Amino acid sequence: MTTLHPKYLETLKLYYEEEIEGEAYFFRMSERLDDPGHSAKMRLLGEVETYAAAAVKPLLDKYKLTPRPATELTASGRSQADAKPADWVLLLEEMRGTFPGYIDDFEALEAMAPAEDLAPLRTLTAHEIAAIAFLEREAKGDQSSTQPLVQYLKRFATNPSPG
Ligand SMILES: [Fe+2]
Repeated sequence: MTTLHPKYLETLKLYYEEEIEGEAYFFRMSERLDDPGHSAKMRLLGEVETYAAAAVKPLLDKYKLTPRPATELTASGRSQADAKPADWVLLLEEMRGTFPGYIDDFEALEAMAPAEDLAPLRTLTAHEIAAIAFLEREAKGDQSSTQPLVQYLKRFATNPSPG
């Protein structure tokens, strides 16, 4: 077995955990938003997180990594959502500010990974690309803003273990 980058496994596990937290965060925020359209968009972001987490889960299994309990991650995500105002404009602005940084993180993870792990990691990176494409469309008032998220889910739903 080739030597793994010393930070690879802990980063992989952390990013998996963050997707589970993110899923809970978006689902909780979706419940809190009054506007049904905004609520549905938040829910869709949560579903994209679910998929991104599921895509990398086989890698955690492969390396016998044990993530923090799902109940703990879900509680953390929900409380992060509860700590913020359920204000669509503010949330959008915040996400547009923070999401591009996650692309850098995911690409750094890909750079540490052995080649045979790249397919699921690219699926993880792709979820952030889809989310940012959604945010940019949404900021412009594009009526088909959710299309990148829907496409992401469709593209991968037929192939749950890409690669
Ligand atoms: Fe995510």
